[in-house]
Order: sequence, then C-alpha cells, then structure tokens
Amino acid sequence: METLLSPDSFVYNNVILVKGAMTMLSKRLEKALNDQIVRELESAYVYLSMCAYFEAQNLRGMAHWMRLQAQEELKHAMKIFDFVNDRGGRVELGPIAKPPVEFKSPLDAFQKALAHEQKITQSIHDLYDLADDEDDYPTEVMLQWFIEEQVEEEKSASEVVEQLKLVGENGAGLMILDQKLGQREAESS
Ligand SMILES: [Fe+2]
Ligand SMILES: [Fe+2]
Repeated sequence: METLLSPDSFVYNNVILVKGAMTMLSKRLEKALNDQIVRELESAYVYLSMCAYFEAQNLRGMAHWMRLQAQEELKHAMKIFDFVNDRGGRVELGPIAKPPVEFKSPLDAFQKALAHEQKITQSIHDLYDLADDEDDYPTEVMLQWFIEEQVEEEKSASEVVEQLKLVGENGAGLMILDQKLGQREAESS
C-alpha cells in the first residue's frame, strides 16, 4: 500500500510517530507500569482464589467463570510486560499479596470481584494521567485498550452481582445462574 509517511516517521499502534520521538520509558513510568503488571498478576491470583472457593462450593459454572477471568488477567499482565520490554524498559516483578480465601456467599465473592475491578480501573486511569503528563504517546495508546477493557470488566462483574441479588436465597435460581456462567467462553485476544 502506498504510504504518505515521510522517511523519518513510522506507524506504531495506528499512530504516526516521528523517528527518535519514541524515547525510552521514563524511570517513573517504568516503575508505574511494573506496579501495574503486579496488580494484573494479583488480579489473576484473586480470581483463582475465588475459583477455588466456587469449586469447594460445587458451583462449577462460577468456578469456570473465575478460572477464565484469572487467565485473562495473566494476559493483561503479559501485555504490559511485553510493552515495557518493547520500549527498552526493564521488567521488575514485585511480591503478590495473599488473596482472600473464604467468602460469605457467591454474592460476596462477586461483589469483591467488582470492587477489585473498580480499584484496577482507578489504577489504569492514574497510569494514563502519568503517561499524559510525560507526553508518552505510545503508553497512552497502549493504555486505551485497558481503559476500554475495564468498562467491560466492571460491566460483566456487576451483571453477575445484580443477577445474584435477584436470585437471593433461591437454590434453583442459583443453579440456573451457575449453569449460565459455566457457558462463558475464553476471549480470543
Ligand atoms: Fe486486568
Ligand atoms: Fe480485570
């Protein structure tokens, strides 16, 4: 395809950049991205713990939902991991906090999942603000995917919270919802 780019510019994630403009990550941004990698891994850990809780409750559909959720969080961590490397930064992994083990009810677990996502959304927004302060356009572009993803993440967790509230103490309703959540499919990307 014919391109109108000047010889000293190139396309990165659909954004035209001038050569030399994509400087290395600042130390501050590198640290903040490393912290986000840990938060995504921590998310995977939280969901895996919820998966174990649902397995123990014999709610296999909800366990499946949480297992897929944990796998997605690992992919999120790797997206940032790869980005830091691509930008000539150094990935440095930190400790992951022990996740909660017991939950009062399925509703309690999903409410905690939703609260967790809301916290992650805030951290992504803070990261975007930092990239914006530093005029680090590639990081902003990379984070736009995460900003959209967080809308989906909050929406899917809050949908289950609302459905669990509707079901209440109804055992049959809980089984139907469990079956439905068991049909969740892994995302392709
Ligand atoms: Fe995530
Ligand atoms: Fe998430």
